[in-house]
Amino acid sequence: HDSTLTLNNGVTMPALGFGVFQSPAEETAAAVETALRTGYRHIDTAAAYLNERQVGEGLRRSGVDRADVFIETKVWVTDYGYDETLHAFEKSTRKLGVDRLDLLLLHQPVPERFDRTVDAYRALERLYAEGRVRAIGVSNFMPHHLSALLERTGVVPAVNQVELHPYFTQPDVQKANAEHGVLTQAWSPIGGITFYWDKDGTGRSTLADPAVQAIAQAHGKTPAQVMLRWHLQQGRNAIPKSTNPARIAENFAVFDFELGADELAALDALDTGVRGGPDPNVTSPERFKLVIPED
Ligand code: A2P
Repeated sequence: HDSTLTLNNGVTMPALGFGVFQSPAEETAAAVETALRTGYRHIDTAAAYLNERQVGEGLRRSGVDRADVFIETKVWVTDYGYDETLHAFEKSTRKLGVDRLDLLLLHQPVPERFDRTVDAYRALERLYAEGRVRAIGVSNFMPHHLSALLERTGVVPAVNQVELHPYFTQPDVQKANAEHGVLTQAWSPIGGITFYWDKDGTGRSTLADPAVQAIAQAHGKTPAQVMLRWHLQQGRNAIPKSTNPARIAENFAVFDFELGADELAALDALDTGVRGGPDPNVTSPERFKLVIPED
């Protein structure tokens, strides 16, 4: 009932992962333990989420063998630079309680200091060559960031993790990734980020979208399950986040139905071209205020 994707270096990863972005640290261990017991075998975290320690705790509490879990984390921008990024690997693995990572990403490009972004990526290449990470990649890279990186480095990223849900489908990013053999990984895969728009009454919710709901009804599934299925059938990795056990289970129950081509197209057509998250071309000064603790 599970399925896997093969990265450009032959490493396989589960098609559906579990996300912990904005999981409060105190709830993360329980959520990860629940997810692993539910059947998820892929956890996506980041140094900047400040919950790597709790991810490691959830992994150990679950009793699931570490070797059976695909663990992915990200280097934060204040750790960019060659030596800094090598050190960031040490910090993350120490907190997670593992000696090897399955996937390590640069959290975002820093276009204003692209040299440091490149140096950080060169450190990932070294960790990869040494076998300390099984695959390396990037996150929030737009096509021009990706080509600029490819011009100056040797290992093609295995993954580019970007905001991707029915209201923001980024066809240009998906196309550039595919052309270079980079797997597209969707963050905010059910459009959780669009909930932020709703707070001031101006946003829309993918979960409440009439088109999504109609497709869900036709299959006897939920809107979240329909959106996750849409990612899987289009070959993307998705990493839904939830700290609620019922929703953790709901989001994993997506291997027993299939959407038709017309339904996939109807979901594609919901794209607004408007992102919910930050613009990767502009790095907010706030981002440089977060220093990742040693432990
Ligand atoms: P919660 O943790 O309380 O379940 P995304 O990963 O697309 O950003 O979405 C995450 C958001 O969506 C979180 O606020 C999460 O809240 C909520 N969520 C996760 N799964 C579901 C679901 N199946 N149905 C409705 N809301 C969900």
